[in-house]
Amino acid sequence: MSIPVHVGIIMDGNGRWAQKRGLPRTAGHKKGAENLKKVLNAARKIGVKVVTLYAFSSENWARPKEEVDTLMNMFREYLKNDIQDLIKEGVRVSFIGERERFDYDLQEQMNLIESKTKDLNSFHVVLALSYGARGDILKAVKTIAKKVEQGVLKSNEIDMFQFSSHLSTVGIPDPDLIIRTSGESRVSNFLLWELAYAEFYFTPVLWPDFNEEEFEKAIKDFELRQRRFGKV
Ligand code: FPP
Repeated sequence: MSIPVHVGIIMDGNGRWAQKRGLPRTAGHKKGAENLKKVLNAARKIGVKVVTLYAFSSENWARPKEEVDTLMNMFREYLKNDIQDLIKEGVRVSFIGERERFDYDLQEQMNLIESKTKDLNSFHVVLALSYGARGDILKAVKTIAKKVEQGVLKSNEIDMFQFSSHLSTVGIPDPDLIIRTSGESRVSNFLLWELAYAEFYFTPVLWPDFNEEEFEKAIKDFELRQRRFGKV
């Protein structure tokens, strides 16, 4: 039996879920946010150690202002309420992405939550907010280049380990499984460096309908693949 240690989830299909019901797109996001608790509980119960949620990509800033504003308020509420419940349960919460692009109160909340939970280790939730893997890789390259310029680092010392330690995912094990909902089979700039050896699970189920059972299905599928390929 092999349970993935780290599962990354591309939560897609909120807009289509709402559209199918004649509701505004934001109603799909709201239903999608409610779903998070169930899926995180399922992951924890199964024994997954880390879940990274792609909640807002760097490209998502280009969506209509009204949708972005609604999402920002949802994040604000999520950090204030749901995350506090997770913290009470001993969950570590951290954030990857361009934190500086958010309103100051959100940045403060993120910093506070991270420092409050940094030593908790039963379960780790990583929220990818204003995240894009290419941007993250580029940032790492620039930091490394500066260190070489300053003579702090020699170019021949740059190996994969050194490089990884400059990404925002430093210290987090690489994902074993990436789930994408809503029938799209793209990676969309999510954890490009880190997913080098990940398995992929694409499902047509829209994110607001992706419940505990659907998550368990993804894990079972992963376990079967591990057995088929003779891995431990
Ligand atoms: C993709 O669906 C989803 C998003 C861009 C936002 C994800 C946000 C949530 C699941 C809820 C809020 C999260 C937190 C952490 C509170 P889409 O809008 O691209 O759907 P579509 O492809 O059907 O249009």
